[in-house]
Amino acid sequence: MADWKFAHVTDIHIGSTRSYRYNPAWVDNWRTAAQQLRAIRPELLLVGGDLTRDGSLHDYEFDGSRAEIEAAGVQWHAIPGNMDTGNKHTDRQGALNDRDDIACNVTEAQLGVFRERIGDFPWTFVHRDVRFSGCYEIIAGTALPSAQVLDRWLDELATLPHTRWHVMLNHYPLFTESPDEPACDITSPTDYLRWYFAVDPAPRRRLLDAYRRAGVTHVLSGHIHCRRPPRTFDGITYCFGPSTAMPQWADRWADGDASLGFQVFTVRPDALDVEFVPLARVSDRTDGWGPAGHPKPEARHR
Ligand SMILES: [Fe+2]
Repeated sequence: MADWKFAHVTDIHIGSTRSYRYNPAWVDNWRTAAQQLRAIRPELLLVGGDLTRDGSLHDYEFDGSRAEIEAAGVQWHAIPGNMDTGNKHTDRQGALNDRDDIACNVTEAQLGVFRERIGDFPWTFVHRDVRFSGCYEIIAGTALPSAQVLDRWLDELATLPHTRWHVMLNHYPLFTESPDEPACDITSPTDYLRWYFAVDPAPRRRLLDAYRRAGVTHVLSGHIHCRRPPRTFDGITYCFGPSTAMPQWADRWADGDASLGFQVFTVRPDALDVEFVPLARVSDRTDGWGPAGHPKPEARHR
């Protein structure tokens, strides 16, 4: 079979001029990525969450994101990210005072808006003998009805015939350093970002056990906005993807690269190769508005 390609974009953060904050540079950057994708012509486009800037607050942002993604001209499949639907759950406030962590917890209603405006999840399908699956991993272990749907889906996934490659699309990485890393303390200023950026140990174990049973070979994630070279633990290769919108955590790892762009995978008879494609041009527009981060309601003024 001839080599063929699929692409992974994540954290594209389109946003809307109707919203209390907006960054036109991020839209410019997505349009550059879309133009590059039209030239590369992958067969599939995996969109790894954070399609919006504030979809969890403004339902209408999804419509703009959908139109922008479709302009890339590639068949696409998406999962939610935290800015689309809400963050990882916590039962206590974290160390950063500029946000209300409990109020940011992902809700069933927000997941429903994503389903309605973008599409259902989790999903799985086979394309040219490669299985592609996508789920919003961060709801695993919560009391949300969607977490029960995820649990049943993970069990069913293990019963499907295994393929040479099985690519799992997630938003949060399962870990920041290694699959056996311990829990992080949300109330610790030095631990907060490590808490924020990855799945906790108990749901991570549940997901990894299910992924292994389902023959997952690659886990693609976003959320951090800092790419790392693929790393393999116990037969599963983890690809931390870059954002197309803006960099984060650039100083975290010696091998980290927060450059903007996306990943293109080439499926060969005996290999699945990944290549980073940097944006051909990074927008220098500065005419956006609104605060960064997870502002409390009183900070969301136009
Ligand atoms: Fe993001």
